[in-house]
Amino acid sequence: MSLFALASASGSPGVTTTALGVALVWHRPVVLVDADPVGGSSLLAGYFQGAVTDDDAMVTLVLAQRDGRLGEVLPRTLITVPGTHVSILPGPKSHAQAGSLTDLWGPLAYELIALEQTGQDVIVDAGRLGMVHSPDALLRAADLGLLVTRSHLPALAAVRQWASGWSAASENGTGPASVAALLVGAGRPYESSEVAKVLGIPVLESVAWEPRSATVLSEGQKPASGSWSRRDELVRSYRAVAAALHQQVAAKRLASSGGVR
Ligand SMILES: Nc1ncnc2c1ncn2[C@@H]1O[C@H](COP(=O)(O)OP(=O)(O)O)[C@@H](O)[C@H]1O
Ligand SMILES: [Mg+2]
Repeated sequence: MSLFALASASGSPGVTTTALGVALVWHRPVVLVDADPVGGSSLLAGYFQGAVTDDDAMVTLVLAQRDGRLGEVLPRTLITVPGTHVSILPGPKSHAQAGSLTDLWGPLAYELIALEQTGQDVIVDAGRLGMVHSPDALLRAADLGLLVTRSHLPALAAVRQWASGWSAASENGTGPASVAALLVGAGRPYESSEVAKVLGIPVLESVAWEPRSATVLSEGQKPASGSWSRRDELVRSYRAVAAALHQQVAAKRLASSGGVR
């Protein structure tokens, strides 16, 4: 099993939308964790248009952890997205609540990793970096940390510092095991190769710039054609991101099993 963490450095480049989009095209069961310290669950308000309510999953988990029952209770707090193999762990209801979760993220990371036995991967929406109450323990537990960014200069100027910080943290074991950027809208104006050069980290993939299709996920809008099509550029790019993530994991496994020297 693998744990991927997506985060942004500035603005609202599309972390939540991308995390959901990639989860929906994932090849096997996947848990999407809302760990955005801003709170307010944009997933439930957006994609689900408020139709799905959260029974205060975070409070339930904090209490379960105190009782030493986190692993047992975690599966019951997940909400399945109907017709998919995506389960959602709703995040903090408010920024104030996020403040009481600091001690939860570490043990939760451990339990999420243990989901391997049930054949599930984990995608974490860590929100914007640098916020108080950031889920640092989840970022540290990630196999791959993805800095989600647009490709224009103000976005790159903001994300650059985090790229070098994450790279250093990755090397000294205090950050994600590896680090890459995920572009939303490559070529607007800078291409992946230029972004990689500026940031000093690889660009894993780029997500197509499709504002209208993106609102299907971010606001629960009806797709223009009635249903999501495999041919939709945005869906195709989510598939490419998912494929790149699998490839990363496979390469890492091969390397750690001694296949690559
Ligand atoms: N690939 C994309 N192309 C165009 N617009 C997008 C894309 N992904 C997300 N968006 C839009 O960007 C806005 C912010 O998305 P959101 O996922 O909430 O960002 P974040 O989680 O980084 O704050 C939303 O209006 C969403 O529809
Ligand atoms: Mg978000």
